[in-house]
Amino acid sequence: MNRSQAAARIRELKDAINEHNRKYYVLNTPDISDFEFDLLLQELTVLEKKYPDLAGDDSPTRHVGSDIAPENNAFLQFPHRYPMLSLSNTYNKEELLDFHNRISKVSDQPVEYVCELKLDGTAICLTYKDGRLFRALTRGDGTIGDDVTRNVLRIKSIPERLTPAGDFPYPPEFEIRGEIVMPFISFGELNSAKEKNGEPLFANPRNAAAGTLKLLSADEVERRGLDCYLYHLIADVPGIKTHWQALETASQWGFPVSQYRRLCRNVEEIMEFLEYWDKARADLPIATDGVVVKVNSFSLQKTLGMTAKSPRWATAYKFKAEQAATRLLSVDFQVGRTGAITPVANLEPVLLSGTTVKRASLHNADQIALHDIRLGDMVYVEKGGEIIPKVIGVELSSRPGNAQPFHYITHCPECGSLLERDPGEAKHFCPNRWECPPQIKGRIEHFMSRKAMNILGGEALVEQLYDKQIVKDPADLYYLEPPMLEALENWGDKSTQNLLSSIEASKKVPFHRFLFALGIPFVGETTAKYLASHFGSLQALKDAPIEDLTEAPEIGIKIASSIRDFFENPVIGIMLDKLKDAGLPLRQDVTEKELMSESLQGLQFVISGTFSRSREDMKNLVQLHGGKVLSGVSAHVDYLLSGDKTGPSKLQKASAMGIRIIGEKDFLALIGELPSEGTLFENENKTTSF
Ligand code: IVH
Repeated sequence: MNRSQAAARIRELKDAINEHNRKYYVLNTPDISDFEFDLLLQELTVLEKKYPDLAGDDSPTRHVGSDIAPENNAFLQFPHRYPMLSLSNTYNKEELLDFHNRISKVSDQPVEYVCELKLDGTAICLTYKDGRLFRALTRGDGTIGDDVTRNVLRIKSIPERLTPAGDFPYPPEFEIRGEIVMPFISFGELNSAKEKNGEPLFANPRNAAAGTLKLLSADEVERRGLDCYLYHLIADVPGIKTHWQALETASQWGFPVSQYRRLCRNVEEIMEFLEYWDKARADLPIATDGVVVKVNSFSLQKTLGMTAKSPRWATAYKFKAEQAATRLLSVDFQVGRTGAITPVANLEPVLLSGTTVKRASLHNADQIALHDIRLGDMVYVEKGGEIIPKVIGVELSSRPGNAQPFHYITHCPECGSLLERDPGEAKHFCPNRWECPPQIKGRIEHFMSRKAMNILGGEALVEQLYDKQIVKDPADLYYLEPPMLEALENWGDKSTQNLLSSIEASKKVPFHRFLFALGIPFVGETTAKYLASHFGSLQALKDAPIEDLTEAPEIGIKIASSIRDFFENPVIGIMLDKLKDAGLPLRQDVTEKELMSESLQGLQFVISGTFSRSREDMKNLVQLHGGKVLSGVSAHVDYLLSGDKTGPSKLQKASAMGIRIIGEKDFLALIGELPSEGTLFENENKTTSF
C-alpha cells in the first residue's frame, strides 16, 4: 500500500468507525460485533503508526466514542472532573504477557494485579457529597457526560446514602465509577414486552441498559430492573494504597462492588482467572465480554500513567465468541409479527458451545451481499450475547465451483406481497400488515396477552385457531362456542371452560388495556393510558383528527398519524364493529382511573393559569399520578401549579400560606415526564421515545 492508498484507507476506516461508534453509543443499535469493530480499529491503529502524519487529531483511535446525541438531548451535561477513559484491549494471551512484561520493567517488586470481570453494560460516574448521591453522569464523550441522576436513583443497588462503616471514613466528596447493566432476566422480559407491542427489540443487554438509562420516565427506568457494579473509586482516602483495598472499602460503605474478582500475584493466577471465567460466564445472570486486568498498587499506577485514551496500568482481555464452520444448505425467510423479514440459514448440524446448531440468522440482504454468501458455502457461525446464533462470514477457499450468487427474495413467502424496505432500515418487510398470516396471528396473540386483554392461551393455541380459520381476527374470540373448539388438539372441556370464561372476563379490563390490545403501531402501554384518559372512549379517539390527537399528552405527530392510519383501515373498522356487537364497553368506566405512578400520592394541587397543554390535561396528569386537584387555595393545598397569567392575588395568598408554587416544567419533572432542574428540554411537545 502506498501513501495515497493509505490516506484513502485511513479516511475510510475513520468514517466507518465513527459511524459504528454512533450506532453503538448513541443509537444503541450496533450492527457489527465488538470483535469486528476491534478489527477495524486495529487496522487503523497500524496504519496510523506507519503514517503518523496522516492520523489527525480527530482520529477515533485517540478519542473514546460518545454517547451524547447532539440532536434532541434532553439531559443537562456536566464536565467530568477526571476524563472517563476507555481500556486497551486484546483477544490473545501473548499480548497480555507483553502487558505484564512492560509493567514489570518499571517496577522493582513483583507486580500484583486485580482481575475483574468486564461487565457488558454502560459506564456511570457517581459523585457523592457528605455521604449522599449528588450526581450521576454517563461517560458522554469522556470529557462531558449527561446528568442521569434522577434515573440512577431508581436503581435499587445504588445507595442514595452511604453507611459510615468500615476501616476508613468516606471523604466529604468523592467519585466512584462502574457499570450499569441489565440482567438477562430483565432483558428477556423487556424484549418480550417490546415484541408484543410491535416495537423494535434491543439487540443485547448492553444496548438495553444504555437505552434505559437515557429514558425520560424514571418510573419506567425503575420497572426495567437495572443493576449496577462499581469498580473504580476515585477518592483521596489516606491509608488506602491499593485498588483491592479501595474496592473492599467501597463495599463497606454500601456500594455494590462486583464479587467476580481476584487478587493475582503472578501471571499464572491471571491465566487461571481467564480460563475459569471463559467457561463459567455462560452461567452468570449478567453479560460479560472479558476480564479487566488492573495493577493493584496506586503508586505503580501513577508511575505508569495513561495515554490520551486509556490507562497504561489496565487492559481488557476480551473473550471471543465461540465459532464453528459448517455448510450452508438452504435459506428460509421468516416473517416476524411486525412484518420484518429475517433470512435464516439451514446448516449442516455443528457443535457450538455445547449445543448442536442447525439454524442461524443471516441478518438481512446487505449482510448476505457484503459477505457474498452463497448456497453450498462453508460459513462461520458464532454464538454472541444474542439468543440465536448468527452467520458471520464465509470461507471462500472452500467454495464449490458451481456456487451461484445469492438472490434475495422480492416477495413475502407467506402472503406473496411485494416486499418493501424503508430508507436507512436494514430489513425488508411485508407491507401487508392486515392480511399476512404471521402478522395477523401476532396481533391476535398480542390482543390476548397478559398486559392486554389477559385471555388464556398463547402461541400454540392461536396457531391452531387461526390455521383452522376459527379465529381470523381478535374480535372472533368473542364469538367462540364450545363445539367450535372440539377439533383442537390436546383440548378438553375444562380447557374450553377456562378459555371462554377468561374471554368473558376480558370484557371488563380497563379501557387503556383494550386500547393497548388493539396493537396500534407505536401505541404501547403508557401511550394507551394517556389516550384512554384523554379521549375516554373509542368513538372519541376514532373521530379525533390529527390536530386533536397531538393535543393529548405525549402524543407526537408520528403516533398521531399511526392512530389515524389504523382507524381509517376498513379491516379494522369491521373488527371494531364486531367487538362492539360482542358487548365490549369500548369506553372508560367512570370509576376507572388506573394510576400511572404514585409520585403525587397524598398531595393536593390547585391549578391556575394557562399551560402548554389544556387545563383538563394538567388535571388528568395530577390524578393519573395519584394527586388530588382542589378548586381553591386553602390550608389543605400542597402545591399551586401555576401557569402563565395566574392571578396575582392567588399567588400572594398561596405564598402567604407557605404553599409551594411550581411551574409546568417543575411539575413535569415531579411526575417523571422531564428530567429535574433546569432542563435543557426546550420543546414541550416532543415525544419521549429515546
Ligand atoms: S476499568 C480507567 N473495570 O469497559 C479505568 N472497566 O472498554 C477504566 N468496564 O469504559 C475502566 N467492566 O465501561 C473497568 N471491571 C471493569 C469494567 C470496566 C466493564 C467497561 C467500562 C469501560 C469499558 C472499557
